[in-house]
Order: sequence, then C-alpha cells, then structure tokens
Amino acid sequence: KAPLRIGIAGLGTVGAGVVKLLAEHGRLLSLRGGRSLKVVAVSARSKAKKRDIDVSGVRWERDPLALATAPDIDVVVELIGGSSGVARRLVQTALRSGKHVVTANKALLAMHGTELATLAEKRGSILAFEAAVAGGIPIIKALREGLVGNRVRRLYGILNGTCNYILTTMRETGRDFGAVLAEAQAAGYAEADPSFDVDGIDAAHKLAVLTGAAFGAKVNFAGVHVEGIRRVSAMDIQFAEELGFRIKLLGLARETRYGIEQRVHPCMVPLSAPIAHIEGVFNAVVVEGDFVGTTMFQGRGAGQGPTASAVVADLVDVARGRQMPAFVVPAERLADKKVSPMDRH
Ligand code: HSE
Repeated sequence: KAPLRIGIAGLGTVGAGVVKLLAEHGRLLSLRGGRSLKVVAVSARSKAKKRDIDVSGVRWERDPLALATAPDIDVVVELIGGSSGVARRLVQTALRSGKHVVTANKALLAMHGTELATLAEKRGSILAFEAAVAGGIPIIKALREGLVGNRVRRLYGILNGTCNYILTTMRETGRDFGAVLAEAQAAGYAEADPSFDVDGIDAAHKLAVLTGAAFGAKVNFAGVHVEGIRRVSAMDIQFAEELGFRIKLLGLARETRYGIEQRVHPCMVPLSAPIAHIEGVFNAVVVEGDFVGTTMFQGRGAGQGPTASAVVADLVDVARGRQMPAFVVPAERLADKKVSPMDRH
C-alpha cells in the first residue's frame, strides 16, 4: 500500500517529538497502520534553529499554507497553535483541498471546532485532535469509541498541568501563588501566555472540546464559566486540607435541565476522591456514563513524548482510513444545547 504522506506545520517541542516517534517506531507503525507513515514536508519559522531530529531528506516549506495544497501530501499536522491566523487558515485550506488534518490546537477547536468538523465531514476528510486535550491521555478516543454506548451524565477533570503543578507545590511548600509561578513555567508546560494557564482559559478550551465529544453538542467555548487560580492562597490550601479537602482546578461539564453546564474553577475535592491525589503536572479525566458507571483516565497532559504519542495515534487512524465523526455524531447533527449560566442554579 502507498505510504501515508505527512506534512508537519510547526517544529517546536511537539513537532520534533512527532518526527522522533515516527523515526523510532517506523516499522512498528507501518505494521499497525497497514502502510508506512512518511514525513514528506515540514514548515517552521526558523530553518536554522538547532533541533535534535533528522529532517535532512524532507522538503522545507517556508509558508505553512503550502502544505495545505501540496499534491504530494495526504495529511497535514497542525502544530502552530492559536485560534485564528495561520493555524485556522491552514486547517481550513487543507480540509477544503481534501486533505486530512491532525491538530493539537485546543484553542482553535474551542473557537471553531463545530465549523471545522462540518467542513471535514462534507469533504470526506478526517479531522483528528487527540493531542488537543489532556496530552497523552486518549480521552477523545475513549469518548468516541470505548464509551460510545453511553449517555454521559457528567465529566470532569484536571485539564491544566501548569495549574495542578502550582497548586501541588503551594501545598507542599506553603509558598504563595506568585512565588511558584516562575517554577511552573520552568517545568516547561506553560502556554506562551501563562495567563491562559493560571486564569483557566486553557482548561476551558479543553473542556469545550471534551463537551462536544462527550455530549454530541456544538462546541461552545463562550458558554464556559471560567475562574482561574490566582486568588487561591497557600492558607486556603492548608485550611482545606485540615477539613479533608484538596483544592484542584477542575473543568466540569454536566447535563442539566437547562442544557449543558460547563465550568472551570478551583474546587474543594474530598481527599477520599481518587482525583484529589493526581499531583504535579499530571492530568486526569473522570467520565460518568449511564451504563459504564464511573471511569477515570490519568496521565501526562503535556510534554514532548505524551503529546507526540497522541498525534501519532491520530496519524495511524488516518493511515488505516478510519473515517469517524470528529465529535461522536456527524457535525451537522450536533445539538445546540444551550448552556446554562451559573447564576440560574
Ligand atoms: N499549558 C498546558 C498545561 C499544556 O499546562 O496543561 C498542555 O495543553
């Protein structure tokens, strides 16, 4: 069978991880995907930058948009980031040109997920985004496949590693938010703009995408109530502990009689709950389904290896030709479930 021809836009930590994984597990992946996975072109801001990967035999495109229309590319991997501008144009153009798209871009999907899924499905292309939510945890696949027989009642999780690291370190050391933030950034998980992490926006992006996949509803980022962790003090954390609770930044979505409620804010989690013990940069997602009961997924929510692992899983799906709706049901059938504002409860 002909190889799957891949074009990668963005060669930062994740892009380099994908190139490494594809090189290291090449034989294994062609066996699993039924054909070989071949990177034919890449595009990144700087060609000169030192990277510990070998892209010598690979075409270099100065303009990422060239990947979207190149006749020798089957699938575009978008790792540029950002909800507008180049990333959005790249994904739209690639889908319109009949290519498949794999993206790790949670902001883009949170803002334009329904529209992009609709475009993909109209063109018969695959839009896959396992890496966009909770890094290496295969939660999108779980919702779309393993749990697809259930009605999801409720879903919640630790969706931002940077905040979880900050809260964990504040508890362990008694230091306050400001003192720990720089350390969290040094841990390498923080967004380019760290306010996306600490103000809960990154977690809200991921929650909006998860809600789409779990409830078959249109992605609605504007409907997420968002509060970050800036105002949590070391003393709050200590008092909570004394009462038998751990403070976690959770993203939560549940079906109510008004529609789907989505919120991100610091929560007092009882120490008896397993998710209270997910510490440091780890992520976790709990899904409550009507037939399956409660399931919990945990793992690394960011970083080179875990995110590359998720991107490559999507590439193998594309190699296998697994045509699936991006959000559990066909995009044009996604329900417009109005989101209830917090103050209605
Ligand atoms: N800034 C994110 C986090 C990276 O800290 O979890 C993964 O999306």
